[in-house]
Amino acid sequence: MLVLGIESSCDETAAAIVRDGRVLVSSVISSQIKIHEKFGGVVPELASREHLDKIVPVVEEAFTRAEVSKEEIDGIAVTMGPGLVGSLLVGVSYAKAMAYALKKPLVGVNHIEGHIYSVVFENPPIEYPALALIVSGGHTNLFLIPEPCKYKVVARTRDDAAGEAFDKVAKLLGLGYPGGPIIERLAREGNSRAVRFSVPRMGDGKPDFSFSGLKTAVSKYVRETGLQPVKNGEEPSQAIKDLAASFQSVVVRSLVGTMEKLSEELYPKTLIVAGGVACNNALRGASREAAQRLNVPVYFPSPHLSTDNAAMIAAAGTVKLQAGERAGFDLNADVTLRLQNFEVEDEELRRSRVHYRL
Ligand code: KG4
Ligand code: ZN
Repeated sequence: MLVLGIESSCDETAAAIVRDGRVLVSSVISSQIKIHEKFGGVVPELASREHLDKIVPVVEEAFTRAEVSKEEIDGIAVTMGPGLVGSLLVGVSYAKAMAYALKKPLVGVNHIEGHIYSVVFENPPIEYPALALIVSGGHTNLFLIPEPCKYKVVARTRDDAAGEAFDKVAKLLGLGYPGGPIIERLAREGNSRAVRFSVPRMGDGKPDFSFSGLKTAVSKYVRETGLQPVKNGEEPSQAIKDLAASFQSVVVRSLVGTMEKLSEELYPKTLIVAGGVACNNALRGASREAAQRLNVPVYFPSPHLSTDNAAMIAAAGTVKLQAGERAGFDLNADVTLRLQNFEVEDEELRRSRVHYRL
């Protein structure tokens, strides 16, 4: 089965062709980083305009690289949400037009579900139940996946996403955009014990994440110590590198600590760590160590599949197409689309593993 995936939910226009849900035939990504970096974040109007410019050549390139004709595909999968409305609409409208013209089946895919499927290309098949940590610029969630296509959020961020925290802290320190890769690079030369940040805990005892307090703590530290943000092109000071390492370390401790704690309660057979922040090697290392302690395999996508791409959308879409799911031409973008369709009370879930088979 050959599926075309289309992704345009944020600032990457992407198209990919995937065979049988796990063989990557071609993947094309046009990134808008250059356009948004001077603003220190994504500007929605500029993003949708750029998607409009790029969608046709990106899809064409995916077919050219795959050496596949449009008639040969068996279906089209497109990101329908969550994301920026103007950006999503470009992909959704284009996919609908293509499905109509080619008379091919169409499915809408949740972007977060796509990130979960980004691990299928380079890892053994996922064994269920799985626990997936999805960490990106817009999302930070831990999902329990009792069986394919069933999702329950078991931890979520109460405020900023982890990637957003990396981006905001980088901006605060004058480091540029996107912040994640820059902070990771500086952290390698910094002392992660230099500044003691504590892992945020919820007052109600829930295992949720919170990163906005951490950003405030970094800002307070900068103010109180008189640390100077980096000026254009300057080499960051050792103090900045130490701060980057300390910040990264507490984010990683928070994410991996929660994943490990919930694994001890939910007994997953596979751990998945995906989304843009999954590029981070400190996060990968700590996740591997936790997985070893738990004696469970952990799967990551390679870096080019960690950040937004269309291969993951095609992979998730293939499962839906195979299950007979079809979208009509009334398919619309859903900016706040959620990924949760497995409703079991937390307490009940913890009491017995039998509930996985519901
Ligand atoms: O998945 P993604 O491309 O887009 C969203 O769906 O949000 O994730 C982008 C996010 C950005 O916030 C970026 O700073 C972060 O992923 N990121 C990283 C690293 N590479 C990208 N964060 C930490 N360490 C990295 N190496
Ligand atoms: Zn994403």
